[in-house]
Amino acid sequence: MSMDVAAVRTAFPALTDGVAYFDGPGGSQVPRAVADAVADTLCSGISNRGTVSAAERRADAVVVKARAAVADLLGAHPGGVVFGRSMTQLTFDLARALAAGWKPGDEVVVSRLDHDANIRPWVHAAAAAGVTVRWADFDPRSGELATEAVTSLLTGRTRVVAVTGASNLLGTRPDVPSIAAAAHAVGALVFVDGVHLTPHAPVDLAELGADVFACSPYKFFGPHLGVLAADPALLETVLAPKLAPQTDAVPERFELGTLPYELLAGVTAAVDFIARLVPADGDRRSRIVTSMRSVQAHEDVLLADLVARLGAIEGVTLHGSPSRRTPTVLFSVRGRTPDEVHLLLAERGVNAPGGSFYALEAARWMGLGEAGANRAGLAPYTDQRDVDRLVEGVAALV
Ligand SMILES: Cc1ncc(COP(=O)(O)O)c(C=O)c1O
Repeated sequence: MSMDVAAVRTAFPALTDGVAYFDGPGGSQVPRAVADAVADTLCSGISNRGTVSAAERRADAVVVKARAAVADLLGAHPGGVVFGRSMTQLTFDLARALAAGWKPGDEVVVSRLDHDANIRPWVHAAAAAGVTVRWADFDPRSGELATEAVTSLLTGRTRVVAVTGASNLLGTRPDVPSIAAAAHAVGALVFVDGVHLTPHAPVDLAELGADVFACSPYKFFGPHLGVLAADPALLETVLAPKLAPQTDAVPERFELGTLPYELLAGVTAAVDFIARLVPADGDRRSRIVTSMRSVQAHEDVLLADLVARLGAIEGVTLHGSPSRRTPTVLFSVRGRTPDEVHLLLAERGVNAPGGSFYALEAARWMGLGEAGANRAGLAPYTDQRDVDRLVEGVAALV
């Protein structure tokens, strides 16, 4: 079943402003239903989680529903879904907690393809614990991260392999299941940054081989917060500093302070929105998978068109050509800085920012430096007219 993009677009109030939003990898636009869920929660009687008053039960139900929704989205266990301020914060917290069990001489593996949020937390934690960081390099021309580039670094001392599900700079989708199998063979824990993957493909933690998977609902129509998902049994083995009155139960013991109930209601609404992107029968998990396959099909068609036409413009360079990718295109325009391109396109109502997008190691490795390049990311609401406007806008700059 294909996705009706015109119908999907009507669900997003922001799209009536006439802007072509190619900045989805930085944060997607939000459907009315998600905003309504946030507002309804704020306007209803709500207290701290509890079982006595209706307001307490309402708060509790919001949390339980949000864990179930994320579990359906990721093929995860609701009891292993942890909410936090952002993926960055959750990753820092987990890295610090895991590092308490590391010994000098242990090793962690990070990839240069990753967003800094899946590098720096491990680098800091390793430094504090006297642990060696091993860097997996990718091919700066193709943007591919070869499986062997990671697996060749594994030893009996490897404690964590941190790798992205998809690069937010180039769209590259490494072969995470193969990397994970090799990491597990040496007893390492696999941490997958799924922030850029989750909006573009069906996700299944077990299929990926991810012990821990992190993502950010604001990249897939939801509010601004972060999510970490793992087997609850694994989380039981991790101790983290927390307040004394706070429960020791998993996953709550990783959630510091009061949860943002209104945002969690928005997360549930975002997952329900995804589940309804195309008409389908079955439970929510199977409808999500059907929807995400349709999203992929829709985005792949537009991506092929965008890559062919942008690449054909004299003076435009496309960076990377990964074989398995999300619909994310990094490009430079001869004689223009990324900031200039960003500004001139924005003046035409086309949003395609410039920079390294916090994939700083990757941008440097490719020779793009801190300035990076311009990024055009497609979303389920992107249509052919948007793509035409981007191509016309870039062509006018050369
Ligand atoms: C691939 C990737 N990982 C991690 C992050 C950080 O996510 P958060 O803003 O939730 O910390 C981002 C944000 O852009 C990202 O694109």
